[in-house]
Amino acid sequence: MRRIFFFFLAAVFLGAGVYLFYQDGHTDTGSLRQTSTSPVSGAAATMAATDAVDTEDTADTAVPTEEPALLPEDLNTILDHSETVPLDTIPSSITALVNRNYLLPSSYVPATLVEPHIRFSFSYSSDKRKLRKIAADALEEMFLAAEKKGVVLYGVSGYRSYIRQKQIYDQNVIRRGRAATDSVSATPGSSEHQTGLTMDISAASVGLQLDQRFGDTKEGRWVAKNAHKYGYIVRYPYGKAKITGYTYEPWHIRYVGIATATYLYKNGLTLEEYYGVSGNHDEEKSGVDVEEPDAVKYVTPKPSGTNRESNSEKTTASPSPEP
Ligand code: DAL
Ligand code: ZN
Repeated sequence: MRRIFFFFLAAVFLGAGVYLFYQDGHTDTGSLRQTSTSPVSGAAATMAATDAVDTEDTADTAVPTEEPALLPEDLNTILDHSETVPLDTIPSSITALVNRNYLLPSSYVPATLVEPHIRFSFSYSSDKRKLRKIAADALEEMFLAAEKKGVVLYGVSGYRSYIRQKQIYDQNVIRRGRAATDSVSATPGSSEHQTGLTMDISAASVGLQLDQRFGDTKEGRWVAKNAHKYGYIVRYPYGKAKITGYTYEPWHIRYVGIATATYLYKNGLTLEEYYGVSGNHDEEKSGVDVEEPDAVKYVTPKPSGTNRESNSEKTTASPSPEP
């Protein structure tokens, strides 16, 4: 009987041991799981932190890169084989054509917008001070070169978002009507100001206004003659309204790079002529004729030096807010 009792007792202890062992093992497995999870999480967290640091470092130190012109610099090679060059409508390309017929996407915002260190016609902070870096650097250089010749230039209006252009266009329609607006102001998506490659400029001699008389000032003449050396063109020259779709804007300069600007300047071409396309709006759709005498107001005599025989363009004043 005692043997049976001891056997029973041993069985009870053995059972308890097995139970405790199982409990411990279970707990251990649990803690192992946790332990094994923790280091993995820790490692993942560390990696995530490293990634975050790397990303931040990259963001902090990344040098903004400007996209080059789509076209090779050697224009002569292209033009040996064709009278025009292949049309460039890549929004970020410095030679992109933007006009009424070739619009920018409403979502397009240049990647690198900076404020050039130049004089402005206004003192408040605004996106309209900004340009793409490549255009801002070139403008600074141009303004400095002008100043060395006693020509003091001012920035008036640079980058405009799609939304801002819409506000300007809509305001202009209210103030002057659609017909007059369409000869001086771009519809949203069709303004070069959205590229960040364009600056409207002026001088004290015309009260820092965007005025066609700027073209006949010392400053305007210097710009027309020298802008190409810095990669800029006067985008809406006198007498080309039927091609560009806009009346004369001696103040609106567009960066296209030195090679293209020099080529256009030397050959007296607009960007539309260079690409062999039109920038003029569809008159049937808009009902606008930029040379319709009743729709435009003759204000400024054609700038001196233009060919009077071949040039019959009537011009409009360019009052504020912004054309
Ligand atoms: N005044 C020019 C055409 C513009 O609105 O972009
Ligand atoms: Zn402009």
